[in-house]
Amino acid sequence: MLINNDTIIKDNDPLIRKKSADVVLPLNEEDRTLLMEMLKYVDESTIPEIAEKENLRPAVGISAIQVGVPKKMTAIIIKDEEGKKECEYALVNPKIISNSVEKACLSSGEGCLSVVEEHEGLVYRSARVKVKAYDALKNEEIIIKADGYLAIVLQHELDHFKGILFYDHINTKDPYHQEAGSLIID
Ligand code: CO
Repeated sequence: MLINNDTIIKDNDPLIRKKSADVVLPLNEEDRTLLMEMLKYVDESTIPEIAEKENLRPAVGISAIQVGVPKKMTAIIIKDEEGKKECEYALVNPKIISNSVEKACLSSGEGCLSVVEEHEGLVYRSARVKVKAYDALKNEEIIIKADGYLAIVLQHELDHFKGILFYDHINTKDPYHQEAGSLIID
């Protein structure tokens, strides 16, 4: 499957709201291939020379529904400023098994490969999450204890399984409403 900014499903397509189904394990070749292509997209999307040539919009994560496949698979790569990978996941059936009461949001708001228009505002999510998933890179079940940016990214991607987009969480009356006791991540 060719994944680029033209083939990624946008929010004007009702498919983006479709709920994703559990993936049958062990992972079949078709699902594994798709997940690895998603991971490759995320990796290459932050390499400017490749991104420009292949029409890739920079991203830290992508979920299968964004390429039109309603299955619970997501690929995430977070890199540091030098482009070195801080973490990399190819997750199948990820599920939040616990989350903090404390909330956090990114000071600059969120973006999404499926959202073209800008939606300004804070997206409050749990500050910490524990996610259980099958990791197709390690080929085993893992538990991710995440806080900070990774916790936000995981919740953004897992929302895609429910057809939820980041701007659904923005307080339209007061987009920059500061919730007392919540963390603001720069
Ligand atoms: Co998204």
